[in-house]
Amino acid sequence: MCGIVGIVGRHPVSQRLLEALERLEYRGYDSAGIATISEGTLERCRAQGKLVNLEMRLERQPLNGMIGIGHTRWATHGAPTERNAHPHIVDGIAVVHNGIIENFAELKAELEATGADFETSTDSEVVAHLLAKFCREGMSGQEAMHAMLKRLRGAFSLAILLQNEPSTIMVARYGPPLVVGHGDGEMFLGSDAIALAPLTNEVTYLVDGDWAVISKTDIRIFDSEGNVVTRSRCTSMASADRVTKGDYEHFMEKEIYEQPEVIAHALAHYLDIADHRAASLSTRMDFANASSLVISACGTAYLAGLIGKYWFERYARLSVEIDVASEFRYRDIPLSAHAAALFISQSGETADTLASMRYCKAHGLKVGAVVNTSESTIAREADAIFPILAGPEIGVASTKAFTCQLAVLATLAISAGKARGTITEEEERQLVKSLVEMPRVMRQVLRNIRPKMQLLSQELSGFPHVLYLGRGTSFPLAMEGALKLKEISYIHAEGYAAGELKHGPIALVDKNMPVIIIAPHDRFFDKTVSNMQEVAARGGRVILLTDESGAASCNLDTMHTIVLPDVEEIIAPIIFSLPLQLLAYYVAVTKGTDVDQPRNLAKSVTVE
Ligand code: M6R
Repeated sequence: MCGIVGIVGRHPVSQRLLEALERLEYRGYDSAGIATISEGTLERCRAQGKLVNLEMRLERQPLNGMIGIGHTRWATHGAPTERNAHPHIVDGIAVVHNGIIENFAELKAELEATGADFETSTDSEVVAHLLAKFCREGMSGQEAMHAMLKRLRGAFSLAILLQNEPSTIMVARYGPPLVVGHGDGEMFLGSDAIALAPLTNEVTYLVDGDWAVISKTDIRIFDSEGNVVTRSRCTSMASADRVTKGDYEHFMEKEIYEQPEVIAHALAHYLDIADHRAASLSTRMDFANASSLVISACGTAYLAGLIGKYWFERYARLSVEIDVASEFRYRDIPLSAHAAALFISQSGETADTLASMRYCKAHGLKVGAVVNTSESTIAREADAIFPILAGPEIGVASTKAFTCQLAVLATLAISAGKARGTITEEEERQLVKSLVEMPRVMRQVLRNIRPKMQLLSQELSGFPHVLYLGRGTSFPLAMEGALKLKEISYIHAEGYAAGELKHGPIALVDKNMPVIIIAPHDRFFDKTVSNMQEVAARGGRVILLTDESGAASCNLDTMHTIVLPDVEEIIAPIIFSLPLQLLAYYVAVTKGTDVDQPRNLAKSVTVE
């Protein structure tokens, strides 16, 4: 949430700041702004909405200067207006901020009592006022920074420009990540290494609680007590290449269609494809001796974890404690240090997932990170990394990251089963064989169902509500289908365990309620069909998502039946997620919403 960039340069910075912000726009697109110091004067340019608005503004009102900071905003406190856009400037001090200042109301009241005049309704502005107050009292920028940080509570990162100290940028990391890039007589700053990739790949990651003063050639880092500390420099692998849409209309569409390739790539990392065996992971995670497994994540990653729970319990006989990270971190769960723990996150920066992981680490658990971004905070702090290798996912709605998370979790569950002796060698080979064949089936499904999903999406786009039902692993999948639809088409959708239908949601069913029933011909099929009958009996519009065997054994009238090939149970959630993704995508396209950057959302959620 929110992206921060900065340059202390030898050349003009404004265009380069803008380009770095483009690489961070996935973090929020409510507003953007840049501040530079030119000939001793602070200059600022801001615009509401996407970065392209700032770009147009800068064409009319260029900013000069060889030092500057920039920001792309995902609004937490205060509407997404230009007035609330960062940088905030008070008395020659410009501030960009990512995160939340939890005690801002108390600080604001205190500052207002001493005459401060607030221009915005953000929490961030208190930082600029507080610094200005300390500077007025005679402190240097560095002293003011140290004093100010002692007053802030919350999780935040900051970059600060002082007109009176025009050759340095001050930064702080108390939660959301910040990385400093080392250039040739220039220094850079970004919320992640991807933002800096075209500028440098020599980076220093600030540690939680660090703050620093950055000049053209040097960085001085302090801990929260003000002691000078040293942080190692490393070479980032972040690529400078821009991901393009290719021939696709949206990133989401491209990401849906590239799933067979990326999953094949991910599987090759975890499986012995030729011999149909799962990799041994005992050096990374001791599943064999784990007393249980803890899983936590947010959003789509959580739903992947929920499907993973079924696999770990079934194949590895490991009981799984799973919760959304925003609840997990505060539940005061009694944890055994003998349990293993997995944290799933595409970005590797999700604040609640990171906090849950730290909680488990503090309780002595070995923690594994199932992540897409191997240089993320979650990846760097985990004891073991299980990369999902999906490649950059740009669309806010997670598609290929979800199926790659599933593919990796499936291989981990098989490896765990093998390590624990709960599956035979023959079972292992059968399961791995199904996974190896999966990319081919995915390709076939994506090729065949497109026209059907386009047709169905046109009909569904007129309904205000949609219900999704499933049993077993199809239950979390029903929730994922509903999440995808509501996220990008703004249609209200809910996913339910099919067996729960009669415990409440059935009251909603009438001829205006489309009900999407996910029912592969598995051991739950007959029960799910009974639930489908209950929907049909009340006039609900049944959309059945099944396989060839399911379609052959069910003669109920449906609004639509989408038939997928028969597949082994372990890969069904991945195969069945494809029509759900396409449906959400085409409904959004039909409704004309912003598919890749849906309203109010951001790709990386670094606040709780
Ligand atoms: O980066 P993460 O995987 O930790 O993100 C978790 C959720 O914010 C994310 O999955 C979100 O729910 C997606 N937008 C869903 O499509």
